[in-house]
Amino acid sequence: MCRKVMMFTISEIKITPRWLTSREANQLETELKSTPNILGYTAGELQHFPNVLVAETPSGEFAGACISKDLLFNWTDIAMLYVLPKFRGYGIGGKLFREAFARAQARRRHIYVLSRNPSVIRLMEQSEMKIARAAWQAPLALHLYNQYHMSSLYRLSEAIRKSRMRRDDGQRFVAATKRYEP
Ligand SMILES: CC(C)(COP(=O)(O)OP(=O)(O)OC[C@H]1O[C@@H](n2cnc3c(N)ncnc32)[C@H](O)[C@@H]1OP(=O)(O)O)[C@@H](O)C(=O)NCCC(=O)NCCS
Repeated sequence: MCRKVMMFTISEIKITPRWLTSREANQLETELKSTPNILGYTAGELQHFPNVLVAETPSGEFAGACISKDLLFNWTDIAMLYVLPKFRGYGIGGKLFREAFARAQARRRHIYVLSRNPSVIRLMEQSEMKIARAAWQAPLALHLYNQYHMSSLYRLSEAIRKSRMRRDDGQRFVAATKRYEP
């Protein structure tokens, strides 16, 4: 297979903390429907997350985003990491994740990540996160937030659709934490 050569180096990828534009949010809502790894968000929700890092190419093209959510008891959930398919494998996901992680650490937050994507699991390990054995071991802040998160009809219907997408793909969710230690 012939792979298109990207006209940038990873150091040229700009990572900016800012709100998603409505165009980016619409694009992301559609994109998220294609992955079994993230339940998804509506464009309206995506546009209102305050803690977002946006990756752009040197020509200003939207390449991906990472959303972190501040929860109760000083926990921050690095909740959504997404790179557009044509930009994957060039280091953008890693750059977004490390930046989100460093920013949460700089704010002295405990960090939580849940993922079934092998690249993200590798990033968790590289960040020396503690891998939890079972979902119920997640911090209380996560259990409380999930009540609200799953009260959305959009997510409930996506949960059903995505459980079918995930069937038999052999990957399982891995949760990891990194507690702030003064
Ligand atoms: C997960 C995702 C964001 C990764 O983005 P990306 O730009 O391709 O990631 P990178 O190129 O930075 O690779 C990240 C790391 O994973 C590693 N990696 C790549 N493929 C891997 C695999 N199959 N197994 C383990 N590690 C892998 C890379 O080597 C890299 O590690 P390094 O920095 O030490 O070299 C992207 O694939 C994506 O958006 N997937 C769909 C949505 C999703 O699953 N999101 C995660 C759910 S939270």
